[in-house]
Amino acid sequence: MKIIGTGSALPKKVVTNDMLTEFFDTSDEWIRTRTGISTRRILTDESLIDLAIEASQKALESANLKAEDLDFILCSNVNNNYVYPSMSSIVQGKIGAKCPCTDLRNACAGFIYALDVADAFIQTGRAKKILVLAAEEPTRFCHWEHRETSVLFGDGAGAAVVTEGGDYKGAQFTTISMPDVLYQRQRLEPTPFEDLSSGAYINHTMVMQGREVFKMAVTCCSNEISKLLDIYGYKKEDVKYFVLHQANLRIINGIQQYLGADASQFPTTVEKYGNTSSASVPILLDELVKGNKIQRGDMIVMSGFGAGFTTGSLLMKY
Ligand code: COA
Repeated sequence: MKIIGTGSALPKKVVTNDMLTEFFDTSDEWIRTRTGISTRRILTDESLIDLAIEASQKALESANLKAEDLDFILCSNVNNNYVYPSMSSIVQGKIGAKCPCTDLRNACAGFIYALDVADAFIQTGRAKKILVLAAEEPTRFCHWEHRETSVLFGDGAGAAVVTEGGDYKGAQFTTISMPDVLYQRQRLEPTPFEDLSSGAYINHTMVMQGREVFKMAVTCCSNEISKLLDIYGYKKEDVKYFVLHQANLRIINGIQQYLGADASQFPTTVEKYGNTSSASVPILLDELVKGNKIQRGDMIVMSGFGAGFTTGSLLMKY
């Protein structure tokens, strides 16, 4: 597999830390020192589908392909206006593609899993040109009276077009089934046949054990990246950029220190966009590509973590 195009899209509305002090007891100083976040983008009069379409079209344009050329669309998405149909099937129609599509629900690590699935499709000859998309609106998972989670997130979409090539080395994945550390309940309609006092219909917003997530993210991602470098015979110095999930500057610094790599190898967008879930890796990748920071042939690592508890890391040449 190789990446032949990237694209991204963000909501217009910029929300500063100071603006959040209107809704709960917090401060710019607390948010910046604990997370590195200064602003985030939040959906207002656009929809997530608009962002997903824009990111997809930009990725196709930079790959010099038309939507009809695609033979599969994979989308990482956990929340949008529809429980079904899938986000990928909505985007397929809007951009004028004709190919089959499917969504993956691996939350913040989703883009890494989707790229690995794309590689498997290409290796087995089942598809040649694949749009890999991540579109997420985590600001709508939050309870906007809960300061512990609401300050962390922003919305966005990022995409890559991939095709046959020898750039992909491989991936490492970890699933530790611990939903309690980071989860969100589905909003369900009650039937008349059950005991409504069970608690199944309350608390459908995000629940997170921040400190536990922090520790697991640093440990799992650092281990995966170290293993990848060992397996494929690369040193940390051979990697131009570690394109990590943009959840928190301190988590990124923790992984950097664990690997003993240089801070300049860890580009960030978390300061301006907050945590955009699985969209954060392709958004950052697109910014690096469009800003001419990544050149053809550079080695990159991508890594994501989240949802109780799922992580993934991959190594490839750009
Ligand atoms: N503003 C001000 N104070 C806040 C706050 C906010 N937005 N959120 C929490 N606090 C308070 C807490 O109530 C607590 O107060 P107390 O000491 O009076 O009880 C205090 O700050 C410390 O809370 P704590 O949770 O121990 O802080 P922390 O240093 O662990 O930082 C996180 C909290 C969430 C920033 C940190 O744990 C983290 O980054 N975790 C990873 C989260 C993440 O990235 N999730 C997404 C993964 S995809």
